[in-house]
Amino acid sequence: MRMILIGPPGAGKGTQAPKIKDKYCVCHLATGDMLRAQVAKKTALGREAKKIMDQGGLVSDDIMINMIKNELATNKECQNGFILDGFPRTVTQAEGLDEMLKRENKPLKHAIELKIDDQLLVDRITGRLIHPASGRSYHKIFNPPKEFMKDDVTGEPLIQRSDDNAETLSKRLSTYHAQTSPVVSYYKKTGIWSGVDASKQPGEVWKSILGIFDSKP
Ligand code: AP5
Ligand code: ZN
Repeated sequence: MRMILIGPPGAGKGTQAPKIKDKYCVCHLATGDMLRAQVAKKTALGREAKKIMDQGGLVSDDIMINMIKNELATNKECQNGFILDGFPRTVTQAEGLDEMLKRENKPLKHAIELKIDDQLLVDRITGRLIHPASGRSYHKIFNPPKEFMKDDVTGEPLIQRSDDNAETLSKRLSTYHAQTSPVVSYYKKTGIWSGVDASKQPGEVWKSILGIFDSKP
């Protein structure tokens, strides 16, 4: 399986991707999680990325394309394939990915768009809690952890992302509509695009994704 999940902030990319990872034994590469790991390590890239992320902008295409290229080449979990979550986010990144995969003769099988109206995203984003080390996400109301503010798997504390506030969300959404919507159009021209209604319950969204895998094996 080689696929990408595209959708606005809070659409459910990070919620659905682990289910696909478990089903196909592939790697789940979330560029936002990779950048947050750099922020936590306080690297030069992390310091630069934090400013951009907190303003709802995008880190440069060159940096992101190289990050994915390195990870696909070195991460053993990616040998059976991959799910990209949060990448590509610009048409330049999509072209970079195509070039990279063409060289290896391993084209994408699916580009799945999680479709949802902007107004539903504020509650999802402002109520989200994450486990920083794994990227697992929860929601205070829609998907609460078993124990208050603790990760179900490790018991470690959950935190709120610094970009998960209404003001930064509105900037992230503008960036999405300006720079990432064209990526959806890009894939719609290729035949690998499918869309699912991401406003439904997580289990319903998962069923729709399974339906796509069944109808386009
Ligand atoms: P990134 O981490 O990718 O953030 P994002 O795209 O804004 O997406 P989110 O993680 O906010 O949403 P999600 O779709 O994963 O939602 P989730 O499943 O958690 O990127 C962060 C930043 O990094 C960017 O702004 C940018 O600056 C930078 N960056 C990253 N990649 C880049 C790139 N390629 N190029 C340049 N810059 C890049 O769900 C959200 C909440 O809703 C959770 O609480 C969840 O429990 C809940 N939920 C999920 N599904 C449902 C449902 N069906 N019903 C009810 N609640 C639900
Ligand atoms: Zn995410």
